[in-house]
Amino acid sequence: MVLNGCLPIGPSTASGGTRTSFNKIRPILESSCVHCHGAIRLPNMPSFNSTRALASITGPDKLIVPGAPEKSRFYQVTTLSDDQVGAMPPTGHALKPREIELIRQWIEEGAKIPQEDLTLTPRGQSPRSR
Ligand code: HEC
Repeated sequence: MVLNGCLPIGPSTASGGTRTSFNKIRPILESSCVHCHGAIRLPNMPSFNSTRALASITGPDKLIVPGAPEKSRFYQVTTLSDDQVGAMPPTGHALKPREIELIRQWIEEGAKIPQEDLTLTPRGQSPRSR
């Protein structure tokens, strides 16, 4: 049988591992980030409340560097402790270790963002008011 010829051989199957899909990242950003990083924000803040906006901050030398979490400011800020400048979400609302690890994996595996134009809607209260 030549069934193999019909199978989609993408990076996910080639690497043999399970990919961290954007579906796992989206709820983290919706619960802890997009309250501040949406339409209404300070001019020095990146917006990433849609797949388009996320794509615009992704690339070599951008906030999300596909394949290189350690070079991605987007990942770095989530790993900072509250006493360090630039920790995200700001002071006292750090992500859970599991959430930080998911972001790291997602970026390491290429930071795949769906082609579809999706909006990320804030869930619950802003981390600052919790
Ligand atoms: C309570 C509001 C608030 C929340 C929630 C928040 N941020 Fe921010 N973010 C800011 C502000 C204000 C700045 C700009 C000033 C600064 O860098 O501290 C910023 C800046 C950033 C920057 C740019 C840093 C740089 O060095 O250029 C990144 C990346 C970022 N945030 C990612 C995140 C991520 C990821 C989350 C969720 C895990 C998040 N932020 C949640 C307020 C917020």
